Amino acid sequence: MPSRHFSATATVLLLLAATACPALAQSDPAKITGPEACVACHKLEGAAWQEMKHFKTFDELHRRPEAKDIAGKLGIANIKSESTCVQCHYTSMGAAGATKVIAGVSCELCHGAGADWTKVHNDKTKPTHIADAEKLGFISPNNIYKLASNCFQCHTVPNEKLVNTGGHQVGSALELVAWTQGEVRHHFLTDKKNADDTPERKRMLYLVGRVVDLEYSLRGIANAVEKGNFVKGMNARIVTAKAELQKIADKLPDGAAKTDVLAILAAAPKPVAAADGAGVKITNKDEILAGVKTISDLGQKISDTYKGADLAALDALLPTANQGTPFTAP
Ligand code: HEC
Ligand code: HEC
Ligand code: HEC
Ligand code: HEC
Repeated sequence: MPSRHFSATATVLLLLAATACPALAQSDPAKITGPEACVACHKLEGAAWQEMKHFKTFDELHRRPEAKDIAGKLGIANIKSESTCVQCHYTSMGAAGATKVIAGVSCELCHGAGADWTKVHNDKTKPTHIADAEKLGFISPNNIYKLASNCFQCHTVPNEKLVNTGGHQVGSALELVAWTQGEVRHHFLTDKKNADDTPERKRMLYLVGRVVDLEYSLRGIANAVEKGNFVKGMNARIVTAKAELQKIADKLPDGAAKTDVLAILAAAPKPVAAADGAGVKITNKDEILAGVKTISDLGQKISDTYKGADLAALDALLPTANQGTPFTAP
């Protein structure tokens, strides 16, 4: 698939290679067009976004005592401009060397920086317009695996120093149904009502979300080098993610989906950590990364091939409450 050059794998390796790097790959500041460019056509989506914590973090984060405390411990003087905080809390826009923070977590951090694909994704005269846009970096909601990978890149905080020294949380208990159907919901294309997703789509979100949670928690721990909350927190995430996937496997009837989930569980090794001087060494890092590759491939396969209609067994596991309240269109 040509859009692979924007793959989550590449993005995360980039992120892990340089913990102080300015941006995730999908948010290259030189290709960000800014939320106003999207809202010009997507007005209701824009109104819904303004009610999200993703939006509000722009005005609020640097004022919060907890944020000042984290920044202080890391020696960061300006949360909003120079720092590690920008890659997850803010949108940067502009050419290399001249970037400016323009918003909180805006449209393009979830759907891909828009410069190359905006003109393509809405050209309904071409039946392939969405696929064409994806080749240019668009993250379509149809590709649940990619959509979810993008959430977990920020929500499974892969920065050891930020967690151990700064005291930042190690990530969120992000479950993809509750966390997309609450305050993040902006579902206006089919009608203006911001309706809940269909049961079929919710099952797919649930399944793929649990897979990606495990994948990103394993990615996180594979790169640990210090004793501290990071290694503990990632390990706890892995244990929880595996338990949730086991519940899914137990519910699913025999068939391809169940086989895939069991293969994912089998591919996830138990991390082995050994003391290494003052730090810690993950002695089975290669095994973990090989598992991550298998899990990633199966996650994409599940997202591409299953349709949710056959996954009714998962309804018993779906959340009964959402994370935040959905926006009501005026
Ligand atoms: C010129 C108007 C216009 C602009 C500007 C625009 N969009 Fe769209 N967008 C549309 C239309 C029309 C559709 C519906 C396309 C279809 O039905 O396939 C759409 C569809 C979408 C979809 C759903 C596509 C899918 O896979 O189902 C997303 C997500 C989206 N736009 C995000 C954005 C973002 C993010 C921006 C800013 C970078 C943006 N759009 C800018 C008009 C626009
Ligand atoms: C890898 C991504 C990432 C980076 C880098 C990051 N954060 Fe966060 N941060 C998050 C996420 C995701 C949340 C939301 C957690 C939730 O609500 O579940 C969060 C939440 C927070 C909160 C709690 C928000 C509240 O409820 O008050 C504070 C404070 C915070 N971050 C400060 C910082 C500071 C300061 C920096 C830079 C030194 C930073 N973060 C860097 C991802 C990140
Ligand atoms: C935090 C990530 C995030 C942000 C920020 C975000 N989106 Fe989305 N967007 C999503 C997700 C997730 C979906 C699919 C939700 C679902 O399946 O219910 C989606 C779906 C869409 C759709 C298709 C909706 C439909 O009716 O099918 C459009 C259009 C869209 N987004 C545009 C935007 C625009 C414009 C902005 C900025 C004003 C924006 N998004 C901000 C994550 C985000
Ligand atoms: C670029 C990084 C980034 C991406 C991508 C991202 N988020 Fe977030 N998200 C954050 C940060 C940072 C916060 C916390 C903002 C704050 O409180 O200051 C947050 C907060 C949230 C909240 C509110 C949590 C609460 O405490 O109530 C929800 C819900 C959420 N995100 C869902 C999602 C979903 C679903 C996706 C993927 C479709 C996603 N996010 C993608 C960074 C991100």
